[in-house]
This record gives sequence, C-alpha cells and structure tokens, in this order.
Amino acid sequence: MSTQPPQHEHEESPADGVDDAESTPPAQQRREDAKADKRSRDAQRQAEADDAAKRDEPTRHIKVFRYDPEIEGKQEPRFDDFHVPFEKGMTVLDALIYARDQYDPSLTFRHSCRQAVCGSDAFFVNGDQRLGCKTQLSELDDPVRIEPLPHQEVVKDLVVDMDHFYEEMEAVDPYFDPDETPDGELEEQRQSRENREKVKMSTRCIWCGACFSSCNIAAGDNQYLGPAALNKAYRFAMDDREGESRKTERLETIEQEHGVWRCQTQFSCTNVCPKDIPLTEHIQELKREAVKKNLKFW
Ligand code: SF4
Ligand code: FES
Repeated sequence: MSTQPPQHEHEESPADGVDDAESTPPAQQRREDAKADKRSRDAQRQAEADDAAKRDEPTRHIKVFRYDPEIEGKQEPRFDDFHVPFEKGMTVLDALIYARDQYDPSLTFRHSCRQAVCGSDAFFVNGDQRLGCKTQLSELDDPVRIEPLPHQEVVKDLVVDMDHFYEEMEAVDPYFDPDETPDGELEEQRQSRENREKVKMSTRCIWCGACFSSCNIAAGDNQYLGPAALNKAYRFAMDDREGESRKTERLETIEQEHGVWRCQTQFSCTNVCPKDIPLTEHIQELKREAVKKNLKFW
C-alpha cells in the first residue's frame, strides 16, 4: 500500500462545464463538490486497497462514522470506509490514526496516552463500548465498525460531548474529604490493608464514560447519576478514613430519587468497563449500605 496521502482534488467529468457551475446556486454547488470529493477519496482508498491486495499485504477494513455539523455537505451522518495495512498488535486506535494521517486529516477523534490510562478514546466498536487503544484489531470481525459512544451528543465524527457525564461525576464530590485530619501537618492518614483491598478496584476508574453510555437507565433518565459516579461514591463512602459523618452524607447523595435505586442490575456497565471494575456489585453494596443507614430498631 502506498503511504502517500490520497489526492483530494475534485474530479471533473468532461461533461462538467464552467457554464453549469456558474448557473448552479452556491450551496448546491458546494454539496456537489463535497460528494465528488468523497467519491474521489473513496476511489483512491479502494485503489490503494486493491494494490495492497495484489501485493498480498494484509489489510483491515474499518468503517468509521462521520458527521460534521459545521461543514455543508457533511451534516448528514454517514460511514466512510478505510483499508489500513495490518500488523500484529495493531489496535483500533492505531487503525484510526493511520486512516487520519494517511487518508483524511479531517477524521476527528480523541486520544492521548495510548495505554488505557487517560480514558479519552472510548468508542462503540462492532456494537460494544471499548477503548480504542486497548482493543486489538485481531479480536474483531471485518469490517470493523467504529462509532461514537451511544446516548451522547455527537460533536464531530467520533467525538461526543462529555459534559453531562462529568456533571454526574462532580455531583458525588469525587475527592477524599475526611471528617478529621491528623493533627500533625505531615502525619499520614493511614488506611488498613483490608480497607484498601475493599476499595482497590473502584479506584481504577479512568472516566472514559463507556459504562455510562452502555446503561439503558442513564439513556432514559437524564438525571440518573450513572454507574461511574456511583462507583466513585462507593470509592469514598467505603473508605474508612473519611469517617461516619461524611459517609452518611455520601449515602444521602446516592439514595436520592435518581441514585442507586434506579439501577436494574443489567450488568451492561460491568460488561464494558475497560478496567474490569465490578460496577453492578458496587452499586448493590451501596444499596445495602443505604438500607442499613435507614433501619431503626425501635
Ligand atoms: S467505571 Fe469503567 S467504564 Fe465507567 S468511566 Fe470508569 S473506567 Fe470507564
Ligand atoms: S488513548 Fe488514553 S485511554 Fe486510550
């Protein structure tokens, strides 16, 4: 496969005359130009894929969701096809980066660390929420269909608006906030080994939003805190160092109308979490803690 970027010039047929272009309204002309440009790029990609096939080089076919509300002619959602050279160990993110760098610089998606730490490249890949950098192409059937996270507003191509997700996370005060701190300024606030084990998995969240996107309840209830925020609440409510008073406040936050009781234990969040956090289990444990808090024995 050639490593040269494709040519993007508009291909004119002999029948395309200057007179026609002059008599066409500008908006319509731009739409036609955009379509012709897409046809040209598709033909280029196909030609490169055919070349690679002739040379017997392995390629993978990715179908990428495209949408750009700001560019006329690209406002209709569609899928673009890319054939990328395949190498062992290649991830979905690698394929997207190749497609962007070699074929279409306007292809837009978030990524940063490339090692499942920053949480910025969660996509909907072949029907599941996955981290692009953690998903091997070899695990997936062709064509690999890559879409933005469902139930989130699409900003452009694979980029979704995460504001609502972050608001739900902020709503549970996602930071350590103990009732008391040690007297000495430099004195450690020690945690028992057992207590650390209890909260260990919950601390692994990278705020990717995959669980939130997979949750049917969050999709139908815009105020539901969602699995990631509840897991964050669990992380601190179960931390013995915070103290009983702060724990009670945290439980009051999560037992509100749009809190833990909305969870219907569908396990979709647990199934997609790239950090293997047992989210549904944590939510059930918070439910038990909330019930215990409200039990009165008199
Ligand atoms: S709990 Fe898992 S899926 Fe949800 S935001 Fe955190 S890392 Fe992502
Ligand atoms: S690029 Fe950071 S988690 Fe994938």
